[in-house]
Amino acid sequence: MSDDYVMVVENLRKVYRNNGIETIALNGVSFKVRRGEMVAIVGPSGSGKSTLLNMLGALDRPTEGRVIIDGVDISHADDDKRAIIRNKLIGFVFQSYNLINRLTAIKNVEMPLSIQNVPEQERRRLALEMLKEVGLDSKAFKKPTQLSGGEQQRVAIARALVTKPSIILADEPTGNLDSKSGAVVVQLLKNLARKGHTVIVVTHNMEVAREADRIIYLRDGKIEKEEINTVTVQQA
Ligand SMILES: Nc1ncnc2c1ncn2[C@@H]1O[C@H](COP(=O)(O)OP(=O)(O)OP(=O)(O)O)[C@@H](O)[C@H]1O
Ligand SMILES: [Mg+2]
Repeated sequence: MSDDYVMVVENLRKVYRNNGIETIALNGVSFKVRRGEMVAIVGPSGSGKSTLLNMLGALDRPTEGRVIIDGVDISHADDDKRAIIRNKLIGFVFQSYNLINRLTAIKNVEMPLSIQNVPEQERRRLALEMLKEVGLDSKAFKKPTQLSGGEQQRVAIARALVTKPSIILADEPTGNLDSKSGAVVVQLLKNLARKGHTVIVVTHNMEVAREADRIIYLRDGKIEKEEINTVTVQQA
């Protein structure tokens, strides 16, 4: 185990079986990610991006291969253990925000802390701090329907971050946003990487991908090529 790599992915295969029909979604994917690195995963529809993210985030188990996070093999842990790993180490951001509409922004952000049984006052404090970080403390008591798409996505990012996860996984986080709000969200993700969070972002948008330190191209469940973003490397 190397401290340098927060995530090691080894020969990942995922075969879905439905009614006797097999789909090979991932077919031998291997890579390593450093702490504080921002990696973009791109590829055509159906190339296995979301499947890969689900394996990285311990939402699903691979058919073969392993995902090692902080030296721990998460791929073959049972459901309970994977739930604990998810809650402790990983923050998810989805295209559709997945906020709870009847709750205020701050209550949404507090949610993962409730699951961890953090006392109410502490929850409030941490959630407000996080909303401040995404520039939304003034809207803490608004409900998602009273916020713009970009603001809702920033609330979702605050919620993903409130537990201080070492890894942020984002699946098309700018997919539903106009280009300006999308750019704000991407800069937010970039800043998180600068602060030492590892960010893995799935995107169709090459402008978003080019903001990452590295781009992994998936095709037919395999890595087709990888590109290092030299501009980002020079700036770092
Ligand atoms: N639960 C499932 N059962 C069966 N097949 C699935 C399942 N989920 C995904 N697949 C198949 O696995 C392959 C990869 O799907 P995946 O969702 O990972 O693609 P993607 O790269 O995220 O595509 P998109 O860009 O459209 O989101 C596709 O052929 C898809 O049809
Ligand atoms: Mg997908």
